[in-house]
Parts: sequence; structure tokens; C-alpha cells
Amino acid sequence: MMQRIFVTDVAPRDGLQNQKVAVSTESKVRLIELLALAGVQSIEATSFVSPWAVPQMSDAGELTPAVSARLPGLRVSVLVPNLKGLERACSAGAREIAVVLSATETMNRKNINMGLAQATEVSELTLAEARRLGLRTRAYVAVAFECPFEGITPLDEVLRLSARMNAAGAGEIVIADTIGAASPAQVRERMRAVQETIPVEKLAMHLHDTRGMGVANAWAALEVGIRRFDASVGGIGGCPFAPGAAGNLATEDLVLLAEQGGFSTGISLDGLLDAVDFAESALGAPLGGRSINWLRGVRKRRAVE
Ligand code: COA
Ligand code: ZN
Repeated sequence: MMQRIFVTDVAPRDGLQNQKVAVSTESKVRLIELLALAGVQSIEATSFVSPWAVPQMSDAGELTPAVSARLPGLRVSVLVPNLKGLERACSAGAREIAVVLSATETMNRKNINMGLAQATEVSELTLAEARRLGLRTRAYVAVAFECPFEGITPLDEVLRLSARMNAAGAGEIVIADTIGAASPAQVRERMRAVQETIPVEKLAMHLHDTRGMGVANAWAALEVGIRRFDASVGGIGGCPFAPGAAGNLATEDLVLLAEQGGFSTGISLDGLLDAVDFAESALGAPLGGRSINWLRGVRKRRAVE
């Protein structure tokens, strides 16, 4: 039997948060709908963060109920940096949240204006409160390979913080290569090491394609048993607080890799192309991962036949 891969598309949050063009709430809902139509089962829709920090996400309170109304069966998560974010997410009807803990002191300060110790405690408190409220939870361990401010992140820190997030009850621990600096050998080493304390079913990888290694890194993770991945349709993405963070691993590249590699994703590449086309028109810029030209060529040829 083919092994299943689970994809969370983070384009509406990680992808859009960095874009200069303001995207309307209606367009965001439509993008999410197109992803759902393509077969994506889990989507990170938005973040409940300070509207001054990330203006593009300031409509989270309207977007979240609009998505639930349009797509009641879809698994939708939202990023929250603190208890205030959790409270706002709950008021908007969110059923799954993600906390974001960076593995270095400086990255936490730049991203959420807290040091590492405080950020760890706030993430734990937020997870505990979310669980008490009956929400599903994910915890990002960001800059898990390299930090734009502190260089290579010590593996021990990644292991320690992942274990803390696991002990705090996070349903999924997402090891994130926030700036796309990892290599396949490092992915293999680190994703094996985290499995010594955390069951592989609870682990996910969040990859960026800054150095063109997104697909190679995803394959390395697959080889050591990881089956949950974040990706962003069209490769849209990048963190505004992490210099050098370029686009995310494109969902279409990940799906193509997985399907060619004998895994099933339940996601239609044709459906993803519709989402890329739509995102291009909403952002007014060309998008797409490494495989986009080939995928579009296949579609064109099929239309002619
Ligand atoms: N959503 C909306 N407003 C929030 C908030 C949240 N989650 N958390 C705090 N605030 C508000 C406070 O109520 C306060 O408002 P007031 O001045 O009207 O009373 C103001 O923001 C300052 O609060 P403070 O706790 O001092 O926050 P801060 O200025 O230290 O900022 C964060 C901390 C976490 C809110 C901010 O850094 C942030 O939103 N970061 C997210 C960055 C991000 O999205 N990165 C990309 C994803 S990884
Ligand atoms: Zn990211």
C-alpha cells in the first residue's frame, strides 16, 4: 500500500505575511477554497499577531469565521504568538492554533519581542490554555537549523525545545528551517535525533527553498520517516523578521516529489495550478516552485490533445 504524506499549506499565512501588496479577505478565502478543492486537507489560514507587526494579517478576525462558513470540514490552523493571540483566535472560532518558538535568543526577540526563556514559557502557557479550551495544537521550533542572527543553531537546543513543546502537549511539533539553510545531511541527522524523544507521527517539517534545497531536504526527511510537511502553494513566502528567508518549499514541488517517489498525498497538481494562477493574479507577480513551467506545459499539452 502507498504511504500517505500529510501536507499543511501555509501560503495564506507564511506566504502572504511578507507580501507588500495588500490582499483582500475575500481573495484569501478564495485561495484557501482553491487549496481545499485541490485536496489539501490542512491549511494555516492566518495569524493573530500584532497588526503593527504584520499588517497583512490584520483581518484574521474576519477571515477565520469566513473560512469556517465557506469550508466547514476543512482543518484550519492559525498562528498565535501569545495568550492575547489565542484569545482573539478563540473569539473568531479557531479550532487549531500554532505557537512559534525560535531556537535562539535573538530570533525570538526580533520576531516576538521576548527572549528565549520567556518565549518558551509563553508558548507552554498558550499550549496549555489551548488544550484546556479543547483546541488542536501545533508548535513550531523555528530557525531549527540556522539563525540569521546567531548562525548554526545548536542541535541540543532544538532537541531541548522540541521536548519542552512535546511535554507541554503540542499535538504536532514542527521543525522549521525558517531561512532555508538546511542541507539534506543535516535534515537526516536532526530529524533522526528528534525522533529519539518524540514519536515520528507527531513530527512535521517546515521547509524553505532559499538555496534551492527544499525538495532535497524534503526527500531526506521522507527517508528518515517524516510524513508531515508544511509547504506553500506557488512557493510564496518568507519571514519579515528573518533576513534572507525567501520563498517556502512550493506545495506543487513537494506533491510532485512525493507522488513520483511512491507516496500518496491526496492532492491534485492540476488543482494546485489553479491556486497558483489565482495567487499570481491576487499578488500581481509570477509565482511557482521549481516545477511550475513543466507542470503548466503538461497541462497545456493535455488541453490541446
Ligand atoms: N494580537 C494583537 N495585539 C496584540 C497581541 C496579539 N497577539 N499581543 C499583544 N498585542 C497588543 C497588546 O494588547 C498591546 O496593545 P495596546 O498597546 O493597545 O495595549 C500591544 O500589542 C503591545 O503589547 P506587548 O505585549 O508589549 O507586545 P509587543 O509589542 O512586545 O509585541 C507581539 C509582541 C508578539 C504581539 C509582536 O511582536 C508580534 O505580533 N509578533 C508576531 C510576529 C510574526 O507574526 N512573525 C511571523 C510569524 S513567525
Ligand atoms: Zn516559514
